[in-house]
Order: sequence, then structure tokens, then C-alpha cells
Amino acid sequence: MNQSEPRTVLIDRIGVLATNDPALGEGPTGEIADAALVIEDGRVAWAGPAAQAPAADARVDAAGRCAIPGFVDSHSHIVFAGDRSREFGARMSGRPYEAGGIRTTVAATRAASDAELLDNAVRLVREAQAQGTTTLEVKSGYGLSTADEERSLRVAGRVSDEVTFLGAHVVPPEYAEDPQGYVDLVTGEMLEACAPHARWIDVFCERGAFDEEASRRVLRAGADKGLLPRVHGNQLGTGPGVRLAVEVGAASVDHCTHLTAEDVDALAQAPETVATLLPGVDFSTRQPYPDARALLDAGATVALAGDCNPGSCFTSSIAFCIALAVREMRMTPEEALWAATAGGARALRRTDVGHLAPGARADLVLLDAPNPIYLAYRPGVPMVDAVWKDGHRVYG
Ligand code: NIG
Ligand code: FE
Repeated sequence: MNQSEPRTVLIDRIGVLATNDPALGEGPTGEIADAALVIEDGRVAWAGPAAQAPAADARVDAAGRCAIPGFVDSHSHIVFAGDRSREFGARMSGRPYEAGGIRTTVAATRAASDAELLDNAVRLVREAQAQGTTTLEVKSGYGLSTADEERSLRVAGRVSDEVTFLGAHVVPPEYAEDPQGYVDLVTGEMLEACAPHARWIDVFCERGAFDEEASRRVLRAGADKGLLPRVHGNQLGTGPGVRLAVEVGAASVDHCTHLTAEDVDALAQAPETVATLLPGVDFSTRQPYPDARALLDAGATVALAGDCNPGSCFTSSIAFCIALAVREMRMTPEEALWAATAGGARALRRTDVGHLAPGARADLVLLDAPNPIYLAYRPGVPMVDAVWKDGHRVYG
């Protein structure tokens, strides 16, 4: 800790504090009205009614603003170079989204220096943090050679502790005639070089990317090297993604835009495999939105994440995703807030973030709003007043 920082900080006069702990407050987000919270050594030391707050070395007056856990964005692809705004423009003029656009970013990423990749990633992490994101998973997947995937993961590791090896994003052009050979590379030499730099392994299990058998090989090989599985699945159509994710005990299957009743049932039976919905992608690719209600009503665990990437969704705003989830996917404001915080934490198998019970990391956001419903109620309006990460004020 910085020597000049006070040891304990009391955030006082919080209009509504969403703790995500039903034992501490009302409803699924554990809301406490007229609340206070004490930070000590980077953790939440106390949370409860302001009238009962203990003394602290320093005091911040929230003046009736609401406070929420920092967003846990469990899905991003921010290690890249290049620009695909023209592809987006073409799509909005009627061209469909195809996985092949990824190769445009692969060419630009391979041509970029490490410093350029890092600068871009740092800029996007700061942009996300200023909008309330305090945990951001970061994937490789635009290198697609052993050297370029490894350096992408090194860059990712400079900006995040949640680093995912996505060598199996698409088959790169030089392997177009030998996709099997590319799977051999990903599960062999590339995995060997990349595994030490990642916590997770991911695969794009989709028509045009990797089929079920290849995806299973990738995930099993990663698991043999100690990486934990997560899956991109059911984005562009129904397919084996969800089934495979549940089979291998993945922490999450992401997108879930096209699900069968069997997929919903499988996720409901395996709540430890989170259904991570990425409504910004469906917005930016003019896809239908996932059936969040079917998943929630069946008992599946649902997370909301951003999927910040240059192709299918170039937003770093989780508030925007919450607004989409509430307006377009019929999630309640409380369900959407939970999914973007506690849900994201589940999708990363983390218990120290995504909630504000004593002992949790002091990752929280003060919103310039009386309650968290405003995240969906005032779409597109900047509302973040201040952000703390690990007890340090990092924004505002
Ligand atoms: O999550 N679905 C695959 N990968 C990204 C898109 C990447 C791109 O288009 O560059 C996604 O949507
Ligand atoms: Fe993705």
C-alpha cells in the first residue's frame, strides 16, 4: 500500500449499496439502503447500515449515490491491432457477420510490435475501468502462430490476471488446406509455449471455426497442461458448443445466442458451467438476442460480459450490455446487475470479486444515480463517479 494512503476508508451515506449477498440486504443483489462500507488492506472490512458504521481513518461522502460491485467482465479480446470499422459499416448495409473477418485482425496483429499491442490493450483496460469494470478477462487469438500467440499472452498478462489461450480462434490462412495440421499445432508446440502464460483455454466451437471433435481435442490438451476450459459456442447457429462445455466441465460457455431446449436443460443441470451472454455482439452483428429468460427460469447460472473485440462487438461498456439485457432480453435490472458482477465472477471461478461482503476485494463503483436501476434506465449516459480496485481509488 502507498504510505500516504489511509489504512481504513469509510464510504459513507451510500443511497443504495448492492452487495450481491442476500444475507446482508434485500433481494438477489443484497441491497442495503442508507448504507456504508469500510475498506481495509484492499478488502471490504465492513458493509451495513450507515448508522452502524465503525470509525475509519478517512471518510468519503457518497451523498446518496448508489454503489455496486465492480463489473467482472469475463470475456474480451483486447490484444489486437488494426481497424475493422469498414467491415461494421458493410454489415450495417446488409452483409452478414462471418467468423472469417477475424483473419483481417490476425494480419494486423502479426504486423504490430509488442509495444503497439500493449498500448492498445492498456488504453482499452483504462477505458473499461472508467466505466466500472474492475476485473477483465483477456484472450489471445489474433496471433495464431506459436510466436504471435505467445507474445499476445505476454501482453495480456501485463494487463490482467485472467488470461486465456485462444489459439483455436480460427484456422489461419497458411493452414487453410490443412485444418487438421493447425489443430496439431495448437495442441502441440503452441500449447507448450503458451500454457505457462495463461490460466484458461478457449476454443471457438462453431461452423467456420472448429468442429466438435477438434474443439474437444483442444480443450482436453489444454486441461492436460493445467489450463481450465471455457468455450465460445452457439453464436452463429445451434451446434455442439454447450454440450461440449458441459461435458468437459467448462467454467463458462459464451454467446449462447442459438440454444435448443436440450442446451437450456443441460445448462440448468450443470449450474457450474455458466451461460455467459454477450448482448453487445448480438447488437453489433444484428443477431437475435439469447433467450435469457429460458435460461434463468430453468435455473442456469447466467453471466453478462462485453466481448470487447474489433470485429463482432467493439464496446467496453458493461452498462450498455446491462441496458440491452434488460430491454431486449427481459432480464430484470437486478438479474442483469448480478449477472455482470457475481455472474462474471462465477464464470471465472472467482469468489473474491463480484460481491461486497466482508472479505471480498474492495472492487466497487459509485454511480451518480440513486439506485442501480439507472444503469438500464439511462442507457448511454456516463454515470460512473468513482471506481476502487483492490481498495485503491483508480478512477474519479
Ligand atoms: O467472441 N466469436 C469469436 N470471436 C469473437 C469475434 C472476433 C472477431 O470478429 O474478431 C467473438 O465474437
Ligand atoms: Fe469472443
